[in-house]
Amino acid sequence: MMVGAGKSIGRLGAIYDRIAPLYDLLDLPFELGRYRAIRSEVFKEVTGATRLLDCGIGTGRNLPYYPGGSEVTGIDLSTGMLARARRRARKLGRDIELAHANVLDLPFADDTYCAATATFLFCVLPDELQPDALREIARVVKPGGRIVLLEYAFSENPLRRLVMRLWAPWIRFAYGAGFDRRTREHIAAAGLTIEQRRFVHADIIVLIVARVPG
Ligand SMILES: C[S@@+](CC[C@H](N)C(=O)[O-])C[C@H]1O[C@@H](n2cnc3c(N)ncnc32)[C@H](O)[C@@H]1O
Repeated sequence: MMVGAGKSIGRLGAIYDRIAPLYDLLDLPFELGRYRAIRSEVFKEVTGATRLLDCGIGTGRNLPYYPGGSEVTGIDLSTGMLARARRRARKLGRDIELAHANVLDLPFADDTYCAATATFLFCVLPDELQPDALREIARVVKPGGRIVLLEYAFSENPLRRLVMRLWAPWIRFAYGAGFDRRTREHIAAAGLTIEQRRFVHADIIVLIVARVPG
């Protein structure tokens, strides 16, 4: 891990442990208005994956969308968020493995997974940590496997961009997140190929399908 990474990671863990009890409630308008309609788009890209890694699983909002027949592992930095995911998995009768882990240092052997996903994790991770995070995810995904991301981007529409700018300080404070991450550049820097990049909600939420070389 790069120097200084420990501090950023510690701060993110603390933010999410603090917000975990309220997370689903705070996010509910966005879940209902935006995310619920687009989460399935992520998992359509990994339907054949028999072993799937979901990075930054949070409270487990992706659980209903995992492909049937996939053995899923969800990891998260925050024990508070993981506890919520565990409860949601139990409620939905979904048997998944959950692990307390940092995406920069995954406790799995090389080539363990057929594919990996991360929804709204890379808008949280600082830019300087993203190439290492992507390389680490690629390490545990088999050669040729997919890494699918769902992330925010700043709108090009002036009015929408202004609204996003007004929201940005709250988003940074509450979630440690930003709309301005340069994830597309980091994917290339990590040696991955972008197969697909398309907006799935207006021009502010983007789906990226990257391929691990091999
Ligand atoms: C904005 S939430 C998204 C949660 C979930 N994926 C979703 O779509 O609702 C970001 C999650 O990433 C986790 N996270 C942040 N940094 C992480 C890291 N370095 N390693 C693993 N998880 C991390 C946070 O604890 C939080 O649960």
